[in-house]
Amino acid sequence: MIIAPSVLTANLSALAGDCREALDAGLDWLHLDVMDGNFVPNLTFGPPVIRSLRKALGPDAVFDAHLMIENAEDSYQQYIDAGCNHLSIHVEAVTHLHRAVTAIREAGATVGVVLNPGTPIEAALEVLSELDLVLVMSVNPGFGGQSFIPSVEKKIRTLSEAIKNQVAAGGRPVQIQVDGGVKAHNIAMLREWGVTNCVVGSGLFNQNANVADNLAIIHEALQ
Ligand code: DX5
Ligand code: ZN
Repeated sequence: MIIAPSVLTANLSALAGDCREALDAGLDWLHLDVMDGNFVPNLTFGPPVIRSLRKALGPDAVFDAHLMIENAEDSYQQYIDAGCNHLSIHVEAVTHLHRAVTAIREAGATVGVVLNPGTPIEAALEVLSELDLVLVMSVNPGFGGQSFIPSVEKKIRTLSEAIKNQVAAGGRPVQIQVDGGVKAHNIAMLREWGVTNCVVGSGLFNQNANVADNLAIIHEALQ
């Protein structure tokens, strides 16, 4: 199980330091929540901040950009140039999903499609053979610290079956990433559903403990 710390609930005025804390705790994916104030009702950061982070953190961390932005097909190259290794785009935020997915791969990043809680699974299944990851949102995107929506179970299980079938037929393995309300109390259940990659924001960056101690509790839940 990959744990991808979401920096949204980190101290954004000390972003590189908080990211470094996560990397030092043994986490090598960083989930970067890019919000444009249009696709979602919140605004975070974009390519200039990501470029600075890459400079501060060096080449090793996997920068996993969750693009909650309109028209990602017009701007994906800026995120790759800024140092992102992986881009996930929302079904509703691009006009031509297949074209956007293949263009991102050709530009040199791995690629994922994001399904909101209200988005049917079909769009991801149509392009599954082109994907590295499907991101299933278990909250409505825009904010950290929301409660997990349990009805995503069916979508995750269906996706897991479809990926198994694709791999059995010689196709590409695809990660299932879940984002929103993932904590120590539900992460083992998610693994049982077929999830391979969990985004954790407020479960890692909070007032209770430091990242390493919060991570130890999550690892214990996965024992
Ligand atoms: C929500 C973001 C998430 C969020 C997760 O739009 O995509 O990555 O920061 O935070 P928690 O784990 O607190 O739900
Ligand atoms: Zn996210």
